Amino acid sequence: MDRRGIAWSLVGIQISPSILASDFARLADELGRVADADWAHVDVMDNHFVPNLTLGQPVVEALVKASPIPVDCHLMIENPDRWAPGYAEAGARSVTFHAEAVAAPVRLARQLRASGVRAGLGLKPATPIEPYLDLLPEFDMILVMTVEPGFGAQPFLDVCLPKVRRTRDAIRRSGLDVWVQVDGGVSEETIGRCAEAGADVFVAGTAVYGAGDAAERVHRLRELATSAHAH
Ligand code: DX5
Ligand code: ZN
Repeated sequence: MDRRGIAWSLVGIQISPSILASDFARLADELGRVADADWAHVDVMDNHFVPNLTLGQPVVEALVKASPIPVDCHLMIENPDRWAPGYAEAGARSVTFHAEAVAAPVRLARQLRASGVRAGLGLKPATPIEPYLDLLPEFDMILVMTVEPGFGAQPFLDVCLPKVRRTRDAIRRSGLDVWVQVDGGVSEETIGRCAEAGADVFVAGTAVYGAGDAAERVHRLRELATSAHAH
């Protein structure tokens, strides 16, 4: 079994509910509703990189303390070179910054890894993976956005699936253990297509928090992704 095969069998499908779709007045309780998920996905937006504003480092620090599961921080911000290390200090276990915003991706990824967190590279729908393929060894995860970043509850963009497939193929060829995350419009209807294309980490906001029973929905999404991946 190659390195990827070993990693796959150990970790496999992971679900990362996005608290963007939760009740911001009750964040600790909302984290408790997804305790059976693998990660809590926290969207940091600065109103510059995307036209929306959410929360910053002090709130992430508080969320880390309140969360029963590790925090997966998705930075939709300008100048991540300056700000991303603070989210590692805040206690996030995975920090993803965007290719479109970063000045020195290798330097930043190394800095994040050196502080003990997983480093992720995010790609907006119109950003290709190809210019970044040589950098794969520097990352633990590639985030392929399946909507334009900025807001929850947008329709899933099927046009992003070929990029998921090309990313997974390149990782497989490289023998590296890099996760492929999809984020945006991931639901019971779309998760199977993402898994078939090669994604293994699934962010879902509306699909999880919009469900009466969030824990049951996490379980259902995991089941659907696992069976699609098997095909
Ligand atoms: C969008 C965020 C997503 C968002 C996904 O820019 O990165 O994490 O919460 O929400 P849904 O699952 O509702 O599309
Ligand atoms: Zn996100």
